[in-house]
Amino acid sequence: MVQAKVERLRQLLRELNLEGVILSSAENIRYFSGFTSADAWLFISQDREALVTDGRYWAQAQAEAPQVELIKYSSQKYTSLAHCLGEWLADWHFKGALAIEGRSLSYEAYLQLERHLLERGVATSLESHSAQLDGLRLIKTPEELAAIGRASQVADAAWAQTVKRIEAGMRESELCAELEYQMQLAGARKPSFDTIVASGPNGAYPHAQVTQRPIGEGELVTVDFGCIVDGWCSDITRTFWLGQLEPHLVALWETVKRAHDRGVEAARPGLSGGELDSVARQIITEAGYGPYFSHSLGHGVGLAVHEGPGIRAESSLILAAGMTLTIEPGIYQPGLGGCRIEDLLYLTEEGSVTLSRAPYQILGQAHPREAYSA
Ligand code: CO
Ligand code: CO
Repeated sequence: MVQAKVERLRQLLRELNLEGVILSSAENIRYFSGFTSADAWLFISQDREALVTDGRYWAQAQAEAPQVELIKYSSQKYTSLAHCLGEWLADWHFKGALAIEGRSLSYEAYLQLERHLLERGVATSLESHSAQLDGLRLIKTPEELAAIGRASQVADAAWAQTVKRIEAGMRESELCAELEYQMQLAGARKPSFDTIVASGPNGAYPHAQVTQRPIGEGELVTVDFGCIVDGWCSDITRTFWLGQLEPHLVALWETVKRAHDRGVEAARPGLSGGELDSVARQIITEAGYGPYFSHSLGHGVGLAVHEGPGIRAESSLILAAGMTLTIEPGIYQPGLGGCRIEDLLYLTEEGSVTLSRAPYQILGQAHPREAYSA
């Protein structure tokens, strides 16, 4: 499985006229080798694959990525990973242009690469190709989709448990702690990003910080969460309320729900990311909330919780079967509050399959648990 991925990576290197690549992101190191720590670099050329890492990880590297050569870094012998890798490359007389991941390489590390690879003449150039390299992860295999589905099921199960404990006066931080605890009990390694619980006016910030604010009746509460299971991420948002909503909040929720449903319905291969974004955005704009939908419609989910394809206005990328994506329209009104509804889907030849299955609280229901008995 990993070998087929490495083959696609080598094909990309040939297209870019590069002799090798140094992968430094946790996601790409794992994807192309199976090794699960980010304290390493993975070097791949047309005929070699090698992992450079320190003594804490040698046994783990041999167990998780036995097909890959192990370059043993130690701080007594080398000043940096780049120094160690440069020596190893020079030992077998490697010389060529290399791709790097600018997005996941510190400037310090880049300077080390310049010094130990470029100035030494081992690398003839260092070119950042983050987007093309990440692009190799866009189409998921059935096994990967199943893994992302398991991460979604864990988030769904945690929500079902958490909802039972929600009551007026519960603090945002309590709800957050309960939800993250339930995800771990259900099998998550950890949350896939900082859980968002945004109640009342806090809901006006799309990525609000969790506070000690007690949740009151009649306000919208946006809960955006997800988890990591076996390395793969999930991402879902549910907006709930206790008691009844004022008419302006009803209108806001209804508009977001319609935009969400339209987006889910429209998601299919052949559309561009920009086209899909505009299908859902149009509903919010026509309802007069256009300026309050301040982010893109969605994003892909995989080893990273935010990855391609970007479902945003300027994206011309054509969606294809095997891609995952979120549909997450929202409206955020300063002073009043906000609402977002997010689901995680993957595309098939015919349309899409929704992986996140937690039920939505709907109008007329006074508590999110009522969504389960409906
Ligand atoms: Co989310
Ligand atoms: Co999301």
